[in-house]
Amino acid sequence: MSVPGPDSAGAPAGTVDDARGPAREIRPRSTVPPLSIPWPWRHPRLYDLAFRLSPADRRLRGLEQRRVLAALDAAARPSDHVLEVGAGTGWYTGALAERVRSVRAIEPAPRMRAHLGRRMLRDGRRNVHVADGSLPHDLGGGPPWDGLVCIGVLDYQRDLEECLAAMARAARPGAWMLCTVPARAAAPVDGARRLPIHERVFGRTEREFADAARRAGLRVRDLTPVVLRRRPRTLVASLGVG
Ligand SMILES: C[S@@+](CC[C@H](N)C(=O)[O-])C[C@H]1O[C@@H](n2cnc3c(N)ncnc32)[C@H](O)[C@@H]1O
Repeated sequence: MSVPGPDSAGAPAGTVDDARGPAREIRPRSTVPPLSIPWPWRHPRLYDLAFRLSPADRRLRGLEQRRVLAALDAAARPSDHVLEVGAGTGWYTGALAERVRSVRAIEPAPRMRAHLGRRMLRDGRRNVHVADGSLPHDLGGGPPWDGLVCIGVLDYQRDLEECLAAMARAARPGAWMLCTVPARAAAPVDGARRLPIHERVFGRTEREFADAARRAGLRVRDLTPVVLRRRPRTLVASLGVG
């Protein structure tokens, strides 16, 4: 299965591929993105470029991808309907679409969302529906999800428990959830460039994450740190709902 990476080519702007019908126009509900979005993460080209700035950034992203995809292979089933929160430019969306029945990919930044819609359309991902939405208050309804994926988004959320609880409420009992948080004091990575986004990252210890997850009504199935240069950088969490 392919591991998605940055991509900028695509079909005409403003269309998304809907799992339940033909491509249709995106009409963003919100024009003002939530404050939690650091500005570089609202621009697809800047976002993808950020992972090329240093070997350390590239290495960490590669390690994270490997871990996330392994966790996804363990949790996801072909019959699952999955919500991806903060899909960005789609680093994980295509891989997710290959493994499950349908994906609703929500993304609050309009340019990122349009880029993702074009990319999914171009890649023929007919089981992906791109839509507006954000944590913690606008996950966009939809079915009680069989699985939820939230990679690189909780980094910027002060209230981790509130966000986890919101995702748990959107899931069916017995559902799985896969998310990442930065390990405390992990950002920026040694040797990587310090960007404005690094000032606003909320790092967590394994204990802090596990406590917040339990309070949100989630079971921690696995919590694995991605380690670079002997320091934990990102925690990859596999969770169970209910
Ligand atoms: C670091 S990027 C991660 C994108 C993608 N998941 C990945 O791993 O490449 C964070 C994404 O989360 C989105 N985002 C920021 N705040 C959010 C929120 N409150 N709810 C949902 N998405 C959010 C941003 O627009 C951005 O696309």
